[in-house]
Amino acid sequence: MKTRITELFGIEHPIIQGGMHFVGFAELAAAVSNAGGLGIITGLTQRTPELLANEIRRCREMTDKPFGVNLTFLPVLSAPDYPGYVKAIVDGGVKIVETAGNNPQKWLPGLHEAGVKVIHKCTSVRHSLKAEAIGCDAVSVDGFECGGHPGEDDIPNFILLPRAAEELKIPFVASGGMADGRSLVAALALGAEGMNMGTRFMATKEAPIHDNVKQALVAATELDTRLVMRPLRNTERVLRNAATDALLEKERTLGAAIKFEDIIEQVAGVYPKIMKDGAMDAGVWSCGMVAGLIRDVPSCKELIDRIMAEADAIIHKRLAGFAAG
Ligand SMILES: Cc1cc2nc3c(=O)[nH]c(=O)nc-3n(C[C@H](O)[C@H](O)[C@H](O)COP(=O)(O)O)c2cc1C
Repeated sequence: MKTRITELFGIEHPIIQGGMHFVGFAELAAAVSNAGGLGIITGLTQRTPELLANEIRRCREMTDKPFGVNLTFLPVLSAPDYPGYVKAIVDGGVKIVETAGNNPQKWLPGLHEAGVKVIHKCTSVRHSLKAEAIGCDAVSVDGFECGGHPGEDDIPNFILLPRAAEELKIPFVASGGMADGRSLVAALALGAEGMNMGTRFMATKEAPIHDNVKQALVAATELDTRLVMRPLRNTERVLRNAATDALLEKERTLGAAIKFEDIIEQVAGVYPKIMKDGAMDAGVWSCGMVAGLIRDVPSCKELIDRIMAEADAIIHKRLAGFAAG
């Protein structure tokens, strides 16, 4: 399949693995890239730029295909060493960066000068247009269904993607709720030129996370996610568990007065406990509604091959069959 996204990133299939905290290590990124998609290392999961440089080296040992690095610009006062991370990316010869969170404008000249293509993740049409205006090469349009931070507009992809298609000139991928060949064909029909998956890639053999997490995804239905931190305007879609219930109870009782400090136990430093140790109630963790479509734990290659075969069958058999009448 050839789209502006496969051309831009030099990949075989228009499928991207979104950055995921304590999931997007070199093993997963390399497996996705080796399967013909675009694997992404999560920059900030590496505590220092030196560790990121090492992770990039490890990934390069496992694949000779293109892969990217996610840089999430957090709304925090004591910012991570972003100049150091950017330097590690550029010096490491990485040519694709997925940015997310705050406006990446400040970093674009340096990245572009080094020949790096930037895809910015946006949860609204206005942010997508801003990304285009500041010179991003592509956008990942992240609908309300998505695992992680869907923003505050609550527009699902059936509306958000065609709206993005109406306005954007640069190519974009559909993100949020994507799982299989049906998702890919639907995304293409709505104007996207590929898809980005987070939650689905967690339930793969190569995802270097505890099996408890993978089994939780297989067991979960589309009814099992919750939105937390809305009162803090930092909404996150997470899997329902004991920590989610405790956090939502605090939101109910404290109301508009709630502060980040009130929920620190449920959100701070919990990812290693869940992803590494498999302590499933240790805190809240991002998960998309798409969990309802996840029923197995294939290898990344099995997953991507299956998606492409299914997409092909839908386009050439199911849809072509309708057109024949
Ligand atoms: C466990 C988990 C951690 C995530 N961490 C990040 C992150 O650190 N930075 C980021 O930009 N997006 C992060 N995301 C969002 C994904 O990159 C992707 O946009 C999202 O998962 C797409 O929705 P889906 O889960 O329905 O596929 C995370 C998602 C999950 C499920």
